[in-house]
Amino acid sequence: MGVSIPSTPIRSVERDSLDSCIDPTPQISQQIGEAPGPGPVQPVAAPAQSLLGEPVSELAEPLSARLFRMVPASRQSPSHGTTSRRLRPPLHCRWLSTPPCGCQTGGMYLNGLPVTADQLKTLALTNYGHFTSFVAHHREVRGLSLHLQRLVRDCRTVFDADLDENQVRELIAKALAGHDEDVVVRVTVFDPDLEMGHPARPAAPSILITARAAPTGLAKPLRLQSAAYARELPRVKHVGLFGALHHRRAAQVAGFDDVLLTTANGLITEIATSNIGLIDSEGRLVWPQADVLPGTTMRLLSQARDEEVLTRPISLAELPDYIGAIATNAAVGVRAVTTVDDTVWQIQHDIVDTLRTEYESIPLERV
Ligand SMILES: Cc1ncc(COP(=O)(O)O)c(C=O)c1O
Repeated sequence: MGVSIPSTPIRSVERDSLDSCIDPTPQISQQIGEAPGPGPVQPVAAPAQSLLGEPVSELAEPLSARLFRMVPASRQSPSHGTTSRRLRPPLHCRWLSTPPCGCQTGGMYLNGLPVTADQLKTLALTNYGHFTSFVAHHREVRGLSLHLQRLVRDCRTVFDADLDENQVRELIAKALAGHDEDVVVRVTVFDPDLEMGHPARPAAPSILITARAAPTGLAKPLRLQSAAYARELPRVKHVGLFGALHHRRAAQVAGFDDVLLTTANGLITEIATSNIGLIDSEGRLVWPQADVLPGTTMRLLSQARDEEVLTRPISLAELPDYIGAIATNAAVGVRAVTTVDDTVWQIQHDIVDTLRTEYESIPLERV
């Protein structure tokens, strides 16, 4: 069954977005799929079965205006345990923009219209679907075609349904219309009517588009802790993130930034939400030969390199033979990896800078 999306103009949501100058709560609005890094997002804690302390069923105003809340930094504890005082949203806030008040804003649009709590419930509580995330620079995206192709391919695997690439592109274009700032866009494909007991019923997946301000500046180098874990359907960018996030959490509790996943016998695969590439003693980029997500950043970088790019099995024990490493992710780009367990590489590595420059010189595609 194909995905059918009403071609409703998205301009009508702009008024609604004026009401939503608010920070993302961690439960629903936080963009996942991006490697951890510095950012001004200050999530507000909310009880598990409610949104912002109110039963979901009692949400009367548009969800996009309720899911986000602005909390001044001074009221937040280091652990993000904040009060949930509601502030009047300033009128200058617009969807996808970071206003002078510094708060993050974001809207959530399903098939081009503001999403309702009921529609989001399946994604939040059943959590079956797939997605992709990328940075839109003034409505241009590096690797847009690869992201769209991945959505189409994953939709077939996850829902056995055809996704219309052009419709997705149109929805992204409409969502970005009138917004020239850099944003991280996430396109999530899920079926609001999917029942947990009957996932095999013919699906009618919908397109959820969310966005937030893109990270700025150079992402800090990553320190990784290894853990033996394989994501389910590793070649699919699906919403089943529990295992990866659980291992990321364990790594962070141990003082690292993220987790490097390995097979049971110590062959490295990928980082929780990034690919990893190693640099060998001859300065060549080497990707692990393993069951990993075929990342768009990894693929673009491999195509852009003049040098030979290799793929081979790499074990944890072999890491000291390499002279450096990078993490790649479409939301962050190319990022240095300085540590895996006891292996430490130089922070400022010329080759890492070269790889980043090569990636950033890849032409953007107009949405
Ligand atoms: C498990 C995993 N591997 C690799 C990547 C990198 O993919 P991309 O470069 O398309 O962002 C991601 C991105 O979220 C990921 O979740």
